[in-house]
Amino acid sequence: MSNPSLLILAGDGIGPEVMDQVKRIITWYGDKRDIKFDVSEDLVGGAAYDKHGVPLTDETMAKAQEVDAVLLGAVGGPAYDNLDFSVKPERGLLRLRKEMDLFANLRPAQCFDALADFSSLKKDIVAGLDIMIVRELTSGVYFGEPRGIHIEDNMRVGINTQRYTEAEIERGARAAFDMAMKRNKKLCSMEKANVMESGILWRDVVTEVHADYPEVALTHMYADNGAMQLVRAPKQFDVIYTDNLFGDILSDCAAMLTGSLGMLPSASLGSPMANGRPKAMYEPVHGSAPDITGQSKANPIACILSFAMALRYSFDQGEEATRLENAIEKVLADGARTGDLMGPEGGKPLSTTEMGDVILAALDASL
Ligand code: IPM
Ligand code: MG
Repeated sequence: MSNPSLLILAGDGIGPEVMDQVKRIITWYGDKRDIKFDVSEDLVGGAAYDKHGVPLTDETMAKAQEVDAVLLGAVGGPAYDNLDFSVKPERGLLRLRKEMDLFANLRPAQCFDALADFSSLKKDIVAGLDIMIVRELTSGVYFGEPRGIHIEDNMRVGINTQRYTEAEIERGARAAFDMAMKRNKKLCSMEKANVMESGILWRDVVTEVHADYPEVALTHMYADNGAMQLVRAPKQFDVIYTDNLFGDILSDCAAMLTGSLGMLPSASLGSPMANGRPKAMYEPVHGSAPDITGQSKANPIACILSFAMALRYSFDQGEEATRLENAIEKVLADGARTGDLMGPEGGKPLSTTEMGDVILAALDASL
């Protein structure tokens, strides 16, 4: 039987640097655990635009549809800020999400003990934090029609449409309830049912799906209150289910609770393929970080943790995913820090590669 296939789209900015460390981890699993992948690589975002004039070619899109999982680094950068909207680097990422139909975006926000001091919140508010945001990823205002900039009565008007069908809300809700069943059986759904009809429908559909998950304690919250509660008392949450735009914003907020955006992985999952695996793409939540690109300062942990999520959700290797997560927890406890994790006490930060080195050493030590 052939090995499962991975398509690496390292993208722009720090994407290639952090992905280099993931490639070392993939090699380690092949050598030391006999978990082998057929890895191919291609371009996305500004890197694809530079070569092909589009942020994602049809050929790359077709490859992404065929592989068992896509690993993505980051897209975007100041060099591409003035490009036409239709070819901006972000369009490549959004096309992957939409055409692969990756409707369930899992964004865990976990505060590692060793980093509880790095949060901008007080230590006791974030220590031990472990929440999971399930963000609907293929609908809502990101994709709704009509959209565009039009002239009306000699005035420019910008239009985007928040649109959700009940089927779209329902499938994401099932992913969120399933996640809650595997965790602490608590789900909080967030919308703006006080001002948006799509929010009213959201609340109704989530409540209907709840009938199939009687063990889960379901609550509803307006998303603005949700943002406040996330910084006031984040540990009240277990799983949060919310729409594409609110999920974008709330997940950045949740990420920062954990001390650094450089720590947070994500999985974007779709429906099962013929081989039973879900369509899947894994990517760090952080962006391309142009300010530190090419300096080997970037923290590779978010990207490596995204590969751990791939082991767990695409390849049924939950124990190996835990091994990798434990290795990261260990190096952090031992004081390994990239620049984004330096406290006021200072010290010399590790380079991207050095962080890769210590994680590989911790993996070796785990055998
Ligand atoms: C994210 C990012 C993307 C989004 C951008 C890069 C298109 O912010 O994954 O959270 O808005 O979804
Ligand atoms: Mg975002």
